[in-house]
Amino acid sequence: MSKDSLTVTDNRTGKTYELPIENGTIRALELRKIKTGDDDFGLMTYDPAFTNTASCKSRITFIDGDKGILNYRGYPIEQLAERSNYLETAYLILHGELPSRAEYDKWVFNVTHHTIVHENVKELMVGFRYDAHPMGMLMSTVAALSTFYPEARHVRDAENRRDQIFRLIAKIPTLAAFAYRHSVGLPYAYPDNDLSYCANFLQMMFRVGEKYRVNAVFERALEVLFILHADHEQNCSTSAMRNVGSSEVDPYSSLAAGIAALYGPLHGGANEQVLRMLQEIGSKDNVPGFIREVKTSGGEVRLMGFGHRVYKNYDPRAKIIKQMADQVFAVTGKSPLLEIALELERIALEDEYFIKRKLYPNVDFYSGLIYQAMGFPLDMFPVLFAIPRTSGWLAQWEEMLEDKDQKIARPRQVYLGLGRRDYLPLERRG
Ligand code: ACO
Repeated sequence: MSKDSLTVTDNRTGKTYELPIENGTIRALELRKIKTGDDDFGLMTYDPAFTNTASCKSRITFIDGDKGILNYRGYPIEQLAERSNYLETAYLILHGELPSRAEYDKWVFNVTHHTIVHENVKELMVGFRYDAHPMGMLMSTVAALSTFYPEARHVRDAENRRDQIFRLIAKIPTLAAFAYRHSVGLPYAYPDNDLSYCANFLQMMFRVGEKYRVNAVFERALEVLFILHADHEQNCSTSAMRNVGSSEVDPYSSLAAGIAALYGPLHGGANEQVLRMLQEIGSKDNVPGFIREVKTSGGEVRLMGFGHRVYKNYDPRAKIIKQMADQVFAVTGKSPLLEIALELERIALEDEYFIKRKLYPNVDFYSGLIYQAMGFPLDMFPVLFAIPRTSGWLAQWEEMLEDKDQKIARPRQVYLGLGRRDYLPLERRG
């Protein structure tokens, strides 16, 4: 029987240490015992970008990148995408279990009846420049909400947290739609509590005048896309939310930090890059030439929407989205860019370069095409990511607060700067 421990010999001193292994990890603090002498601080790990460091224990989302598995609270993403809706999935992610009928009805009622924002929030949004990026507006306005709900700072009070969670999940589509309407100069459309979460968002985005009939295919496509984007364990924005939240600031401020991280092109901006790439390729005939460029560029030109840090077999979300795309295009007619995307995928999946590097379409390869077909402008793509990710961020934030192992996040550094030196008055410096 093997023992659950790691034996380490420090060749500097010849001493041997036994470090316990728990859940496939060693505790970094155990390394601190490894010292060359009494005045040595002890060993640390060096892990820029935390590529091999578990920062928390979590029970929310499971990913197996090699097998292409994504589960929320144990439920496979494929089953949720087929049978659930976004609000039910958000409940699952936040509470750990699927709701009973009574719990579901109460949850939907609560979210639906917190969609309206204070009129002063609207006034605040009016103050942005006419061409403000909707993601910048969303980030700032979510941060501003902390001043409207000052009681939210009592983050150790579970009941209080629940109130802020309803509010955030309910209001984020309203703020997102207001940000869009501001950027196109349309009057803000208020929430309609008779509609579902996604149908209401669509009407707040696109209603002009009194009548707007929500297309059922679009509504369902949005439900599915929102389910697929609801959580993805310890990615950049979730880590930002947990890190900022560990200072015990209110959830609006922490969530604004999550949105800020998602705003970056390396995180929430990839589906926009896919569309720009497809537009640049221009036609199906140019696809082989573009593939050649990618292969000979030494990694400089990338096939956007391909490859993933975690998924090295396939991204399970991409499969579901591709099916969804067919349904949406049956309503809107095929986008000329879709033809280019399909040809790119066909050639890339047969090409040795991509096969060898385990590069498959990721969630972003088709999501942008669907959003564009539904009428969303490119600037709204990261916003469309932030809306459903709000439930994941909040679940991770709450889990962090309730975890006895956690405290304020404070990484260490390897200091490589100058040693101590004395201050020289200005006139004596050369
Ligand atoms: N196109 C062409 N070549 C690629 C691509 C790509 N999309 N992705 C990786 N490669 C190549 C690299 O050049 C490298 O080749 P080499 O071994 O010859 O040097 C090899 O594959 C490994 O690449 P890494 O960058 O080490 O892989 P990593 O796991 O760090 O990167 C990432 C993952 C960032 C997603 C990358 O695949 C990429 O840039 N993809 C395009 C951008 C994209 O679609 N991002 C969305 C991710 S999904 C999401 O965030 C929701």
